[in-house]
This record gives sequence, C-alpha cells and structure tokens, in this order.
Amino acid sequence: MDLFNKCAENYDQFRKGSTPYLFTIISLLKRFKNRNILDLGCGTGNLFLQLSPHWKGNYVGIDISEKMLRKAQEKKISAEWIYADVRNIPCQDASFDGITGIYVLHLLDDISRILTESRRILKSGWVVFVSAPHHFIKNHPLNQFFPSFSKIDIQRFPEEEKIVDLLKGKGFYNIRREYYISVRDWLSEEYLEKIRSKFISTLRLIPQDEFEEGLIKMQEEVSKSSYQKLIPWESVLIMGFCD
Ligand SMILES: C[S@@+](CC[C@H](N)C(=O)[O-])C[C@H]1O[C@@H](n2cnc3c(N)ncnc32)[C@H](O)[C@@H]1O
Repeated sequence: MDLFNKCAENYDQFRKGSTPYLFTIISLLKRFKNRNILDLGCGTGNLFLQLSPHWKGNYVGIDISEKMLRKAQEKKISAEWIYADVRNIPCQDASFDGITGIYVLHLLDDISRILTESRRILKSGWVVFVSAPHHFIKNHPLNQFFPSFSKIDIQRFPEEEKIVDLLKGKGFYNIRREYYISVRDWLSEEYLEKIRSKFISTLRLIPQDEFEEGLIKMQEEVSKSSYQKLIPWESVLIMGFCD
C-alpha cells in the first residue's frame, strides 16, 4: 500500500504515545489463555512489541505494505510477518484464538468481508478493533488548521454502530465498546515536526495547498504560545466473541 510505504520510514518516530487499549487485549489473552493471535494491518509490529513482555504465544501479523513489515522484522520480535491483503487472509480455518485490528478498518473498502474472514479463521475466541470515534473526528483539533481533516476522516472511519451491527451479523456476541481518552502534547515544536512528516495518513490526503496554508497557521500559533498545550486524544475499542 503506497500510503504506508511512504510513511514507513518515520512511522515509529512519530507514532509513539499511550495505547490505553493494550490492557484490555492483555486481559483477554490472559483470561482465555490464548495461544495464537493474528494482527490485521500490523504495520511496524508495535502491538506485538508492547504485548511481548506480558504474554508469550504465537503472533502472526499481516500487512499489505512491504516497508511497514520490514520495520516490524527489524524489531526481532518472535513473530511471523505475512505480506498479504487482509481481504484474503492466507491462513487456515479455525487456526486462531484472537484477532486484533488497530487503526486498520478505515483503510478497507469492505469491512464485512474482513469480518467474514475473521470469523473463518477464528476457532472460538474474540476480535478486537481499535478505531477513532466519530464524535472525536467531528471535533478534531486539527480541523481548525486543515478544514478538510474531519471531512476526509468521517468518510474513511466506519461509525462505531456500523462495526457493532456487522459483528452481530457475522454471529459475534457479547459485543462491547470501550472509549478511551489520553492526553497528548500539541502546538509544540515537536508536534509541528510530526505534522510536517504527515504522521497521520489523513494529512497525506489533504490538498497540498491547504496543507501548506494550515502548517503556516500552526507555526504562528506555536510561536505565540509560551506554555505546553495538551489535547485529549480519543479512541474506541470494539470487541466481540464467537464460538
Ligand atoms: C494506521 S496503520 C496501523 C498499523 C498498526 N496496526 C499500528 O497500530 O501501529 C494501518 C496499517 O494497515 C495496513 N493495511 C491497509 N490496508 C490493508 C490491507 N488491505 N491488507 C493488509 N494491511 C493493510 C497498512 O499498510 C498499515 O500498515
């Protein structure tokens, strides 16, 4: 995938931050004594890197970007990395206990198909998807500088209700949502550097003239503010179980 092949080099440098959903995933792994986990759209392997001190088992990560996978391989985690499209997962039926998909659904044109695939390769177990909630996208702080930001993401990110309904339709039960807010640094030189690197894929989809104009406005704001500014950063985890 071209978008992520372009981001791969700087992805880890700028995508550090708290991952509050990690604890829910760890607790599922421990509670169900899971052995085989698949991560859809694993990117540079950060989920497995964070899980590995807490849980030992068989990790498989799938991604469509060769460059993101290369970064995952460089981390030397004990895992299998597969270069494939999650719309056709090259794994046998009933071969996993748990499936994760962190910030990947918004990049897929047919979520229903991914859920069918997920159901096929799960024995009994669970799926966990992490995404951006629509209420957060609508009020996203970057919108004040890049007016297309929310418009682009509202179209890309599926509404939470849609994910829940699709999961129900595929036979998943006990579907639950968890909303998280973490605090992130904002309007600092460091944050400007992240914006310049287009660390969020949405920034790569904004027209270039709008991007440059927004960047100038942000630079002005950063130079005016003499104290650290923080923003709430929201995410949603949606999980479901199957037998
Ligand atoms: C926003 S990144 C998230 C990466 C990782 N899950 C994380 O949390 O850091 C989305 C990833 O999904 C991958 N991706 C997008 N479409 C895909 C597809 N159809 N099949 C497999 N991977 C895909 C991209 O290449 C990218 O690495």
